Amino acid sequence: MADVPVDSITSVPVAVVGAGPAGLMLAHLLGRAGVETIALDTRTRHEIETTQRAGILEADVARDLVGTGVSDRILREGHEHEGVELRSAGRSYRIDFQELVGASVWLYPQTDVFTDLADARERDGGTVHFGIRDTEVLDVTTDAPRVRYTAPDGTRHEIRARYVVGADGSRGTCRDLVPEDRRVRYGAEYPFAWFGILAEAPASAPELVYARSEHGFALISQRTESVQRMYFQCAPDESADAWSDDRIWETLQARVAGEDGFRLKEGPVTEKTVLRFRSFVQEPMRWGSLLLAGDAAHTVPPTGARGLNLALHDVKILADVLARALGGGGEAALEEYQPRALRRVWRAQHFSYWMTQLLHTAPGASPFDLRRQLGEFDHVVGTRAGRTHLAEQYTGWPAREHDR
Ligand code: PHB
Repeated sequence: MADVPVDSITSVPVAVVGAGPAGLMLAHLLGRAGVETIALDTRTRHEIETTQRAGILEADVARDLVGTGVSDRILREGHEHEGVELRSAGRSYRIDFQELVGASVWLYPQTDVFTDLADARERDGGTVHFGIRDTEVLDVTTDAPRVRYTAPDGTRHEIRARYVVGADGSRGTCRDLVPEDRRVRYGAEYPFAWFGILAEAPASAPELVYARSEHGFALISQRTESVQRMYFQCAPDESADAWSDDRIWETLQARVAGEDGFRLKEGPVTEKTVLRFRSFVQEPMRWGSLLLAGDAAHTVPPTGARGLNLALHDVKILADVLARALGGGGEAALEEYQPRALRRVWRAQHFSYWMTQLLHTAPGASPFDLRRQLGEFDHVVGTRAGRTHLAEQYTGWPAREHDR
């Protein structure tokens, strides 16, 4: 296939495989630095826009979306949250981000981030091809890598680039281009999954509620005034179809119930999905002319709301080093990418894992495990050090502390 004639050949400094938020933000930032890109995705724009993903952005990330000219819609339609609630044994404990670390987060769904970025690319004349197939990434160990793909109309195209960025997500294939004997894959599996729903109902609480209970975890999030997003811990092989609205509400209510009488406001469930998750990192994040960014290089469980933030941090660093590499900085600039990105990646891996084990009940947990978890929970909500530990990580670490 690599040398079969194609219908067109285009040269561009950077080809981006994957046009989700990471790929499009990279293209946007490179565009601002005067570097042209072509971004590709096997999904259609509609498919990406209608897949529910997480909804929390760090304030730094929100600021970058506005400050780099993607869109200021987040300021109008997003909601700044100055804290979250942690809940256990029927009581809620507020973690006040503002008071503890002087930071907040923004509730703004990933699908909206994607829409803003896709619109910004269109407005700025950037090239993005959605709904392509048969992607082949070739010659990544040379300084003339190529990407071949089939357009929706069946024609076959080739992009000749100086660098290829793999931003094709946790199920992408770019990371497989790093040879097996030259890569290390770190990971952890969890003996549970999340059952995610969208419901037509008013908000049940002003901020997000992360609840642990003897029945398992639940997260009460929001989308709009009349649409709510909620999750509850379920078995990894659970089938969404087996759950009626009544059963879903009964399960969610049981996980948040308690002495304070808190109850969720119910309404019709309009979407339900079982989300499996794991922790994963592949190193290296660079192989020759190929650079991996976002979920293509690492995934985290959604409990700490780090995934999208981490991906957008990767591409901020990557845009900087790529622009410098192409501007004459060469190898030396590129070599900064992995160490700068990985530091945050492993902190986020730790935080996501920690928050997951703090709030979920593992099947087969012993009485000791449960008591120990309660002791840890009590430390987190009941001491300033514990609350600060959570707040600093959840809000994304101050940039000055981090990307040095
Ligand atoms: C969401 O709103 O979908 C959401 C929020 C926080 C998380 C995960 C998902 O930790």
